[in-house]
Amino acid sequence: MAHIILPPDWRIPERHITPESWYWQSVSRRTCLKLMGLGTLALTGWLPGCSGPVNEQEFARNPQHYEWTDLDRTIYPAPRNPTFTLDRPMTPEHIAAQYNNFYEFSQAKDDVWKRVTAFEPRPWDIRIHGLVHKPRTVSIDDLLRTMPIEERTYRLRCVEAWAMAVPWSGFPFKALIDWVQPLSTARFVRLTAFYNPSVAMGQRGYGPWPYTEGLTMAEAANELTLLATGIYGHPLPKQHGAPLRLVTPWKYGYKSIKSVVDIEFVREQPATFWNTLVPWEYDFQANVNPAVPHPRWLQETERMIGTNERRPTLYLNGYEPWVGTLYT
Ligand code: MTE
Repeated sequence: MAHIILPPDWRIPERHITPESWYWQSVSRRTCLKLMGLGTLALTGWLPGCSGPVNEQEFARNPQHYEWTDLDRTIYPAPRNPTFTLDRPMTPEHIAAQYNNFYEFSQAKDDVWKRVTAFEPRPWDIRIHGLVHKPRTVSIDDLLRTMPIEERTYRLRCVEAWAMAVPWSGFPFKALIDWVQPLSTARFVRLTAFYNPSVAMGQRGYGPWPYTEGLTMAEAANELTLLATGIYGHPLPKQHGAPLRLVTPWKYGYKSIKSVVDIEFVREQPATFWNTLVPWEYDFQANVNPAVPHPRWLQETERMIGTNERRPTLYLNGYEPWVGTLYT
């Protein structure tokens, strides 16, 4: 494991808190320094900031990064499932759409929406295979025609201690499971994102690309687990992971893999992007838990993007009634 010098008091204010990208930069910097024979230097002082100001007018002037097809017009806005309610105001769309983690395109958050222009989420095929009775390769449009699309308002909690609350549109992962009929030997599901370094500059750099994530079968089949195709009553914009992303609201946001092209049912726990890159910081399970601090972010409270309101972090992000029994 790489040698890292942390400031003596690691309970640093959030303005000094760094995103996952710090690791990429620090890993490559450390490698470089090692090669230069300079050893390890204190890292304080060159840490990147988290995000720039959010500009509603600039956002409104730019393309929204989603397009309506005739099929979309028959689907969105989808009927809202009243089971899932929020305990806080919804995050405004222009705030959520300009504060994204999508490392394929940027290591900052505030410019992802500007960097996704060349990315084409249609046409798009998703391969569903592995330990299943009915393997399929399906286009996103056929998936939209086949699956029951509904709207759900969920909280999303990033491991970096920021949070938002948004209305996703999508279908339960369980519906996909029923469609492909996994074998009894399937214990995990592995999801893989697209790989196209010609449009995704980040994929030209360090990392075990493509981005991958995984769930246990019980997690995938849980009522909460959603495959999102839309947000705010319209198709998913590119920066949110068009055309298909995972949403597991009781887990830290890094589990919510964007722009999925491959879903495989497997026997062994799959390797995942962040757990492979920085295993001492990002575990496979990634459940939201205020009692377990991350090495760089206290998890007792969270900051709502947009308002900067501080709220206490809820165990399993408040979704214990749905998923608590999975972890007893
Ligand atoms: N999926 C891919 N393919 N690449 C990524 O970099 N970042 C993850 C997750 N899914 C990421 C990804 C992280 S760290 C978070 S917090 C959420 O996406 C952010 O989702 P949002 O930008 O829609 O809020």
